[in-house]
Amino acid sequence: MDLFKLPFNKKNRKAESSLQHKDQGRIPNHVAIIMDGNGRWAQKRGLPRVAGHKEGMDNIKKVVRKANQFGIEVLTIYAFSTENWKRPTDEIEYLLKLPIDFLQHYLPELMDRNVKIQTIGEVNALPQRTKDAIKRAVDQTTHNTGLVLNIAINYGSRHEMIHSVKQICQGVIDGAYSVDDINEDMLNDYLFTADLGDPDLIIRTSGELRLSNFLLWQAAYSELWFTDILWPDFDGEQFEKAIYDFQRRKRRYGGV
Ligand code: FPP
Repeated sequence: MDLFKLPFNKKNRKAESSLQHKDQGRIPNHVAIIMDGNGRWAQKRGLPRVAGHKEGMDNIKKVVRKANQFGIEVLTIYAFSTENWKRPTDEIEYLLKLPIDFLQHYLPELMDRNVKIQTIGEVNALPQRTKDAIKRAVDQTTHNTGLVLNIAINYGSRHEMIHSVKQICQGVIDGAYSVDDINEDMLNDYLFTADLGDPDLIIRTSGELRLSNFLLWQAAYSELWFTDILWPDFDGEQFEKAIYDFQRRKRRYGGV
């Protein structure tokens, strides 16, 4: 049986997964990854930084396969932040071409695996060719029912929160609700992640111990997992390790 082709179904996780020896009842619904360390990976090999980004792009497939195998519902990957515009123009251009390459190469496989592509971030501000490639992939995979591969691109958490607050203010101005009606659910509903839920687990590679403007509101009770491994070297085995560590955590959400 090809595990990767199974439709997502919580009930069949235990019966169908090859990972039965681990706790199938505690698979995170939503895993988010800060794919850091591409530049250092390239530097260590005497290669230009962009070679690290290319390798990093190719690496995404390994993690998608593993996420599918685990029956994870949403995998969010941080592809380009609102702060990445500070990088040299050549590197920005390269980074923003990568989704085109990625989707050209892997869209058939993603379709085969029933993966649905979504994005968070200001996609409208991206170069036209990148927008077109993303739109095609989102449209083509829209009816897929398996893993949601959520690409955070031109994404910044502070920008997202300001966007949400502006929408809420407009609602007050329009008389749709009053200031007293504003609550966490309302702010949540206007975030780009409204339909995705908060990440249960956030992974960051390359030894950096920070969130870098990634899902700050949504990370309130996320479990954080850091590794020194550089993103291009992060493989399915590492991903499994992060999931197993997550399964050992006690999540109390402020309770006892
Ligand atoms: C951080 O490493 C990584 C990025 C800014 C880009 C990550 C993008 C990819 C892995 C490819 C995305 C492609 C698709 C299709 C979503 P860094 O360059 O900051 O590494 P460094 O800290 O070692 O310099």
